[in-house]
Amino acid sequence: MRFFSLSSILFSIALASAVVHHPSSYEHENHRVVNFVHPGALHSSTDIERIKLRVNNKDEPWYTAYQHLSTGTLAQATWKPTPQTVLVRGAPDPSTNLTQNYGYAYRDAHSAYQLTLRWLITTNTTFADAAVKILNAWGSTLTSINGNEDRMLAAGLYGYQFANAAELLRIYPGWHKDDQDVFAKMLTTVFVPNNYLFLTEHNGKPDFYYANWDLCNIASLMAIGIYTDNSTMYNWAVDLFLNGLPDPSIVVNGALPYFSIANFTESGSKKTLMEIQESGRDQGHATLCVALLGVIGQQGGNQGIDLYGAFRNQILNGYVLLPPPMTRYFGGRVEVSPNMAS
Ligand SMILES: *[C@@H]1O[C@H](CO)[C@@H](O)[C@H](O)[C@H]1NC(C)=O
Ligand SMILES: *[C@@H]1O[C@H](CO)[C@@H](O)[C@H](O)[C@H]1NC(C)=O
Ligand SMILES: *[C@@H]1O[C@H](CO)[C@@H](O)[C@H](O)[C@H]1NC(C)=O
Ligand SMILES: *[C@@H]1O[C@H](CO)[C@@H](O)[C@H](O)[C@H]1NC(C)=O
Repeated sequence: MRFFSLSSILFSIALASAVVHHPSSYEHENHRVVNFVHPGALHSSTDIERIKLRVNNKDEPWYTAYQHLSTGTLAQATWKPTPQTVLVRGAPDPSTNLTQNYGYAYRDAHSAYQLTLRWLITTNTTFADAAVKILNAWGSTLTSINGNEDRMLAAGLYGYQFANAAELLRIYPGWHKDDQDVFAKMLTTVFVPNNYLFLTEHNGKPDFYYANWDLCNIASLMAIGIYTDNSTMYNWAVDLFLNGLPDPSIVVNGALPYFSIANFTESGSKKTLMEIQESGRDQGHATLCVALLGVIGQQGGNQGIDLYGAFRNQILNGYVLLPPPMTRYFGGRVEVSPNMAS
């Protein structure tokens, strides 16, 4: 998917500055936010300044990455939003006559995000105005999320994507405060209740959902917490990511204590490699977990909370033990070659 790879390139640039921490630093750190830094979700203002400098100097790979972004379909000021009243993902109740339409949400969220990056990097306000149009259209139109249980994926994935676009655009003087508030209200009334509902009840199936379901809903609460300056919401999501729910009978596979399946020591380097909860599933889902962990890690780091370093660098250890592109299912476990790990 083209729009996905465009975002990941810029995301990788941001990640390149992430610090690798010493084991055991996390346990003693305070992990609660009181006042938020803005912009402070996927990217900080330092990230934007760094990217801008690199692009202006035509340094590689930043310059080529920016050309890639700026020629993408979704990054054009001519992109027309298609806001929906009801966002539908997964087969809805047949009596409703609704049809799946979630592609509109992710395309428009990505478009708003990419246009905002173009504005921040070039200072050309045509791009910011186009992003404002997209977010205002959704803010004033969307009222609910529908579909079968997959609607909870829509709540998580598009929740953090829309909130990230808004968090970057909030400093644009051409986005009126009233419209920013309408967008915030849409996020907190449409996405947030579904994020909480999924994470606390898991749709009545306490040990069923793979990690990515939890991770996208955690990412959404963190991002919306940042955008709406709600530290209660943000800290709750961070706490869930680090510890799971107080009721241990509900298995939050995306929470770090459940997410870690096994540790291995790489022979030679003696580094720790970690099998993650979706390692043995398929390449697409395993890498989705990694992408979402990057979002969560950045949304922590940009608020001064080191989630990459938690539990002796669990996230980073999980990054290095990703499955190779797999064409078959290994029965739920990744196969670790004896040459790679002992
Ligand atoms: C669904 O569509 C049918 C045919 O157009 C219509 O008769 C029915 O009222 C619709 N149902 C709802 C819940 O909108
Ligand atoms: C800003 O971008 C728009 C759309 O690409 C372009 O038409 C316009 O010339 C640009 N303005 C400046 C000052 O570069
Ligand atoms: C912050 O979020 C929590 C949880 O969703 C909510 O109960 C509370 O009302 C929100 N606070 C504000 C100031 O909106
Ligand atoms: C892997 O190591 C980390 C860090 O020590 C630990 O938190 C985690 O529980 C370990 N995983 C397993 C399955 O033992």
